[in-house]
Amino acid sequence: MPGETVTIQAGQCGNQVGFQYWNQLAQEHAISIDGERSVFSTQNVSNGAPNGQDKPNDHPELFFHQTSNNRYTPRSVMIDLEPSVITKCTNSMPMINPRNLHVSEQGNGAGNNWLNGYSYGSQYEDDLLNLIDRECDKCDNLNNLQLFHSVAGGTGAGIGSFLLEALNDRYGSKKLMNTFLIFPSSEGTSDVVVQPYNTMLTLKRLIDFSDATVVFDNDALTGVENMIVKNTGSDRATSAFQGPNKLIAMALASISNPIRFPGYMYSSYELILSTLVPTPDLKFLSAAIAPVSEIVGHNSTRLHAMNEYDLILELLDDKYKMNRVSEPVNYIAMLTYLIGSESQHEIRKGIIKAQSRVQFVPWTSSSVHVVSGHKPYSAGSLTGVQISNNSSIASMFTKVVKQFDRLAQRGAYINNYTESNDAAERARVLEIFAECKESVIGVIDEYRACQDLSYLDDA
Ligand code: GTP
Repeated sequence: MPGETVTIQAGQCGNQVGFQYWNQLAQEHAISIDGERSVFSTQNVSNGAPNGQDKPNDHPELFFHQTSNNRYTPRSVMIDLEPSVITKCTNSMPMINPRNLHVSEQGNGAGNNWLNGYSYGSQYEDDLLNLIDRECDKCDNLNNLQLFHSVAGGTGAGIGSFLLEALNDRYGSKKLMNTFLIFPSSEGTSDVVVQPYNTMLTLKRLIDFSDATVVFDNDALTGVENMIVKNTGSDRATSAFQGPNKLIAMALASISNPIRFPGYMYSSYELILSTLVPTPDLKFLSAAIAPVSEIVGHNSTRLHAMNEYDLILELLDDKYKMNRVSEPVNYIAMLTYLIGSESQHEIRKGIIKAQSRVQFVPWTSSSVHVVSGHKPYSAGSLTGVQISNNSSIASMFTKVVKQFDRLAQRGAYINNYTESNDAAERARVLEIFAECKESVIGVIDEYRACQDLSYLDDA
């Protein structure tokens, strides 16, 4: 039996994504927003209790804590420096445990400055770690910590970075640390001019301390959302980020589907990561999702239902990718989740066709792995999510380095990150930035080098 996962959400983005994530998981396990589980009701059974059984064979307790009065509450700690997002989440989802929240008393955010978030983290280290420890202590067999945050703001990026360091000291190699990272849209970058600094500082911690990081970016997510609006003639999601966050939540939920609805394959994070992450130097993953119209609940009458074969191939198309792809992609590993799939024949056909289409790096086995995920209680038609390790990360990070260089070459806005304004302090900070940049370039080089047959020999 796999162990539990504790989730940490930091900043506006981390908490808003988290909100959609818990909505998704709760629906999949027939848990209401106030934490009550109703899997035995006739309605839910006929709606697709897995394998037509009238008893649940799923494991919500790996992600939800079951309280003494039989309510389910997310195994999650929510942190923000301003209260509005967390308040909205707790008002709309009473199942959230109010004791698992940390909101700054000043309540004015980190002003998009990584250093403010990081310094806050170190100042309130005991409070934050006690909160996380308390949640971890409720687990019988804690397996995995996961962090949701944006790379570019002050709170999610700064506190997130601080926690990655602190949790590494505390839980180190004993537990997995998976992170889910959101890059801003390129338009957003011009609003907050120091975003490349925040990004560089955060990436350094992810390189050093995460076991795997799934990267999303708002440009690609908006592209996917635009496609939905165009294909279905439906309205855009009413509130900002709602559409993208639902897509992210669906992708995140799919990753743990075989853990929560156990089967014989990929039923633990270790098995999933051993398929996707061949070496700790290649651990930045991408996601793709289809058919998007059904996932975000838009009208899909104009689309034909897709089978397993169609979906495996559809997911190879760059337009369904949830991170920026600007050059042909070489794959290192690929795992496709088909939720609610029934036809092994169509899956086999899809795998053979996909293997003939996809370019893998020359030293891997060129296998397209497919998980036939169990249909959760809420699932409608077949949906697919592809998680892959591929070369698009190199071009994404190269763009970050270029944006960073434009600022750092002139030392622009560096005083936002210094404790005093004297020359020695500025030099110290520039040196820290240079170290971060070197680590990020190391990842870019690794993703470029791994495209050669000699990659393993050159180690
Ligand atoms: P401060 O605002 O400085 O306290 O930090 P923060 O971590 O709360 O900032 P935020 O999470 O807003 O991160 C900044 C970037 O994240 C923004 O520029 C947006 O591009 C993006 N972002 C914010 N909220 C969301 C969200 O709900 N979903 C997605 N996909 N992106 C978001």
